[in-house]
This record gives sequence, structure tokens and C-alpha cells, in this order.
Amino acid sequence: MKPSAPVVRRSSSVASQLGLSDRIFSSKADRGLAAAIDTGLDQVEASLLAEVVFADEIANVTSRYLLNAGGKRVRPMLALLTAHLGSGTVPDVVTAAAAIEVTHLASLYHDDVMDDADKRRGVPSAQTVWGNSVAILTGDLLFARASQLMARLGERAIRLQADTFERLVMGQLHETVGPRAGEDPVAHYIQVLSDKTGSLIAAAAQAGIVFSDAPDEFEEPLVTFGEKIGVAFQLIDDVIDLSPQPEETGKVPGTDLRAGVSTLPLLRLRERQGTDASAAELLERLERDVMTPSTTAPGEPTPVADAAIAALRDHDVTHQTLEEAHQWAREAVEALEPLPRGSVKKALTKFAETIVERSS
Ligand code: IPE
Ligand code: IPE
Ligand code: MG
Ligand code: MG
Repeated sequence: MKPSAPVVRRSSSVASQLGLSDRIFSSKADRGLAAAIDTGLDQVEASLLAEVVFADEIANVTSRYLLNAGGKRVRPMLALLTAHLGSGTVPDVVTAAAAIEVTHLASLYHDDVMDDADKRRGVPSAQTVWGNSVAILTGDLLFARASQLMARLGERAIRLQADTFERLVMGQLHETVGPRAGEDPVAHYIQVLSDKTGSLIAAAAQAGIVFSDAPDEFEEPLVTFGEKIGVAFQLIDDVIDLSPQPEETGKVPGTDLRAGVSTLPLLRLRERQGTDASAAELLERLERDVMTPSTTAPGEPTPVADAAIAALRDHDVTHQTLEEAHQWAREAVEALEPLPRGSVKKALTKFAETIVERSS
């Protein structure tokens, strides 16, 4: 079996996504930064294609499957941005950014097993193609590969990788077991988001600083930025889960709800059920029509469930979730206060805005 052909990403869209190449709003320095980020992303992409290679034929196919299926490369982009507070896109930054993206990739294989997700990055999820065991083992192989990449950068990098991985797994574990008796479900949920997603996004921001030899005092503000952006990112993910446009999201609408995975709109609905009849009614409908295991085969239309998902999308709790995501993004930007004025700070601010405006 041969690996599938590499996907050519239109990485120039990154600069336009960040609004840095727009002549009206940006300076020459901003456009220079945007071009450097694009070049850096191409280097990360080349590194990913070169490093995610296994001598074993099966592992080679299964591990490259989701890599080639797409992905936004948000974490490498952030690492490259913060690296421009130091010496820029040096080889160690590219290696660290690639290792972080491979860690993310690995976590997707495992996550889709846990969430029983049918689709990922617009293609059938790995376990629907090869079964749970192969999907889990592929994730494990990719975690090993990420550690090998980080090991090239020395002990600090290995520690960053191990600490981040531990937090990511704790986030997934705490999501799985749910809040303890008496624990506030929303506070528990936000901690889960911080751990499962904020940790890796923060590590990307931190790696850009550490491996470009940027000033140490930038590390803490950027870790805080990454954590808060991570929470905002996940809250937007909760809203995207309700999106009726699978072509855009690459996922099946309501995947989390169907799998019984808590999301903020659902938690806010539960909070309101005692005092708000419309919330109680919608909750009952979701539990009956979406969250109760159905016998519908994957790909089969599910009109009753889809209607309940649409009702949640239109309910105020979803608007509240969006508002909360924007609040986390604003706080992320506030954490950048100690950074010098300039293109990087501007780009990180734009990055925060882009994250909460995303629809995929
Ligand atoms: C998806 O992350 C998993 C989460 C942590 C929400 P991304 O939205 O960054 O996924 P890709 O890499 O673009 O597919
Ligand atoms: C993914 O979280 C987090 C990790 C993979 C660590 P979700 O389960 O919320 O993300 P999606 O919706 O599947 O992308
Ligand atoms: Mg998932
Ligand atoms: Mg999950």
C-alpha cells in the first residue's frame, strides 16, 4: 500500500485569515510577518510529511490518513507567531511546531473513538475505517513520534511535551467521568476545556518563545493567552457541533450531543431547567430525540434529532455560549498587555478574533 498523495494546502490563506496582508489595514512590517508565517507553515508542512512516515505499511497508511485529510494548523501557526518575538522561524521552532501538531493529530484518533464520531476532517473517522484497536494504536504511534521529535530539542522540550500530554489526557479523563458530587458542572467543564485543549494551544505559544530564544518574560503572558484562547476555541467548537453545514465543519451535526458529551449549551440548559419552561422542554426533547441511543445507521437521515439540534442552535443558551467564547478571547488579548506594540501583538490579537469567528 502506498501513502496517499500529499495535500497541497493553500497556506497563503493564513495571512488573509489573519488580515495581515490587507494593504489598507496593515503596515509593511505586518505584511512581512504574514509572509514569514506562510513560509514557516510550509516548512512545518514539509516536516510533517517527512516525519509521519513508518516503515510498517499499515502504520504508514493509517497514520497519514488524517494528516492528509486536512486540518487548520492552528497550533503551528501560533508557535510561529510567538517565535517572531525572538529569532523567528528557526529550525527548532519548526520541529517543535511539527511535534505539537503531531500530538494534536494523535489526540484526534483517540478522541473520535471516545466520542464515537463518524467523521473527522471531512472523511470517515479512522475507527470507522479500521476499527477501534487500529485507531487507538495509530494514535499511540503518533504520540511516540511526537516525543521523538521533541527529544531532538533536549530535556526542556521533552518535559514540555510530557507535561502537556499529561494535562491533555487528564482533561479527556475528567470529561469522561464528569463532575464529582457537589462540583459545579460548568466550572468542571471549563477546567476540562483548559486541560484537554488549552494545554496544547498554550504549549504551542510557549514553544514559539522558548525555541526562538525570545525574552523569558514573554513566556507567562503567552501561556495565559494560549490557555484562554484554548477555552474560547472549545466553546466555539460546542457551537460548531450544532452547525447544520457538515460540508464546512467536516463533522456530523450534533456529534457531541448524540454521544452524550456535555457541551456548554447543554449545561446552561440544565442550569435553567428549574426556572425556564422552554429550557426544560428543550432538554427533555434533546434527551429523548438526540441523546437516547438510536438504531439509525451512520449516514441515515435523522430528521427528528436534526430538528431538536436546530432548536438548541436557535436557543438563547447557544448565544450565551458564543458570548462566553468572546469573553475568553477578550481576556486572552488582555494577557498580551506586557508585549511590545508591533506586528506580533497585532497578529496575536487578530488570531484571537479569528478563532472566535471560525466556522470549521
Ligand atoms: C479539533 O481541533 C479538536 C479540538 C481540540 C477542538 P482543530 O479544530 O484545531 O482541528 P483541525 O486540526 O483543524 O482538524
Ligand atoms: C477534542 O475535543 C480534544 C482533544 C482531542 C484532546 P472534542 O471532542 O471536543 O473535539 P471535536 O469536536 O471532536 O473536534
Ligand atoms: Mg470529539
Ligand atoms: Mg472529545
